[in-house]
Amino acid sequence: MYGLVNQAIEDLIRKNHGDQLWEAVKRKAGVDVETFVSMEAYPDSVSYNLVGAASEITGTPAAQLLEAFGEHWTLYTAQKGYGQLFRMGGSTFKGFMQNLHNLHTHVALSFPHLTPPSFWCTDVTDSSMLLHYQSTREGLAPMVVGLVRGLGRMFDTKVTITLTHARAQGADHDVFVVTYAPAPGPSS
Ligand code: HEM
Repeated sequence: MYGLVNQAIEDLIRKNHGDQLWEAVKRKAGVDVETFVSMEAYPDSVSYNLVGAASEITGTPAAQLLEAFGEHWTLYTAQKGYGQLFRMGGSTFKGFMQNLHNLHTHVALSFPHLTPPSFWCTDVTDSSMLLHYQSTREGLAPMVVGLVRGLGRMFDTKVTITLTHARAQGADHDVFVVTYAPAPGPSS
C-alpha cells in the first residue's frame, strides 16, 4: 500500500505509545525504512507486518488496532491535504456514504498504482443502510468499522456499525448495518 498508509500507522503508534515503541515495532516487523514516502507504493506485507508487530508488542488484538487505525485515517488524511476530497463527498454522513464509491476513483488520480476497495450502499433509509465492502485484501473489515466511526465524528452524527455478513466466515464480501441520526430537515 502507498506510504501514506504506513505514515498514518506510524503517526498513530507514535502518538499513542511513543517513539521508542515505534522503533521496536519496526524492528519486530522487519521493516528497515527510516521514513515512509507517502506517494511510493510499498508491498502490502509492510503494513500488515507493522500492525502484527504492534499487536504483539502492545498486547492489543490486531482487529482493535485496525479499528483505531481506521478512525485515525479520516483525521490523518484530512490533515494531510486531502480535506478537499472529503468536502467533495457530501455535506451529510448519509450523502458521503452514498458517494464512497467515487472517493477512491478521485484518489486514484493522485495515486496511479492504487488498488482501491469498493463500497456500495443498499436499503438506504433516513436512519440506516447496508454498507457493502469488497477488497482484494483480507482482514481489513475492522478498519472499515473505524473509518465509518471517524466519518460519523467528522459529520457530527451518532453512528453505529455492525458487521453482519463476513468474508472471513465465507460470505462473498463484507456487509455492515450502519445506523445514523437523521440529518436535520431544512426547517430545524
Ligand atoms: C481523502 C481521503 C482518502 C484517501 C486519500 C484515501 C487513500 C487511500 C490509499 C492511498 C489507500 C491504500 C491503497 C493502495 O495503496 O493500494 C487506501 C486504502 C483504503 N481506503 Fe482509502 N482513502 C481515503 C478515504 C477513505 C474512506 C473515507 C474510506 C472508507 C470509509 C476508505 C477506505 C479504505 C480502505 C478500507 C482501504 C484498505 C484497502 C482495501 O480495502 O483494499 N478510504 N485509501
